[in-house]
Amino acid sequence: MFNNILIIGSGTMGQGVATLLLSKSLNVTQVVRTPDAVKITHDNIIKALTKLVRRTKVDIDFNEVFSRFNVVTELDLNSKFDLVFEAIVEDLASKKAIIEKYDNYITADTIWATNTSSLSITDMAATYSYPDKLIGLHFFNPVANMELVEVIPSILTSEDTVNRCWDFCIQLGKSPVRVEDNPGFIVNRLLIPMINEAVGILESRVATVEEIDSAMKLGAHHPLGPLALADLIGNDVCLSIMNALYSSTCDSKYRPSYLLQKMVSAKKLGRKSGQGFYTY
Ligand code: NAI
Repeated sequence: MFNNILIIGSGTMGQGVATLLLSKSLNVTQVVRTPDAVKITHDNIIKALTKLVRRTKVDIDFNEVFSRFNVVTELDLNSKFDLVFEAIVEDLASKKAIIEKYDNYITADTIWATNTSSLSITDMAATYSYPDKLIGLHFFNPVANMELVEVIPSILTSEDTVNRCWDFCIQLGKSPVRVEDNPGFIVNRLLIPMINEAVGILESRVATVEEIDSAMKLGAHHPLGPLALADLIGNDVCLSIMNALYSSTCDSKYRPSYLLQKMVSAKKLGRKSGQGFYTY
């Protein structure tokens, strides 16, 4: 099983997955972009682990955890990893550039897992030195609470890679579902167009933010309304997924709502920026 794991990206998902792996006794190196991000990531992981201790009532020795956790801006040149977990911005060119940038830190056995929500796994695999070892492992937000992981092989991924990642998800206490590489996989192909439609309803003044969210909570039994969910996911992430669905299918049913585009331009990204459809 994987033990020496590199996480690239320290946003919502990079931190969520780091917390999960650390709670399962795994060794984690997390590479971040700025010295400031080193401290922020450390502090956020302490908070997340403290919350986990409170919720699960399982004791965690923080000193022991931090002996297995390394947050850095630059990797040691001799480092090699069993698993690389990429959780950077949802942009294909950036994800491919990262695969090339970290080529020195992998071996022929290293599995590269991307947390992409919608982009082509096959496109990324074709950039990786060992295409049979690249796979989509789509964790959900918040990572600690959400059971599902979509396991997405590309047409180049080996069955051995799929099996190892499947077993890894089980080891982490998650419930994997296998999905063929297609835009949005299962969950986001259903969920993000629904959010986009909710933004369209708001834009055309059919109902207010609160009315739309109440309607879906009370009428469809959703635990969270679609606009509150957009704020949780991040409006920029939702827009990137709509753009990926639209550009890869050329189907107008996936056209991003204009209001969603304006929210992102105005940096109203949701919880992470303090302002989205709601104020935080
Ligand atoms: P985020 O915006 O919170 O964090 C992105 C991270 O990537 C930041 O640490 C940022 O510094 C880093 N980054 C951005 N551009 C980079 C680059 N060119 N090179 C290196 N690092 C870079 O994003 P979030 O929400 O954590 O999403 C990350 C990935 O996970 C995306 O592919 C997204 O689609 C996916 N995802 C997001 C979910 C969500 O609910 N937010 C759920 C499941 C998957």
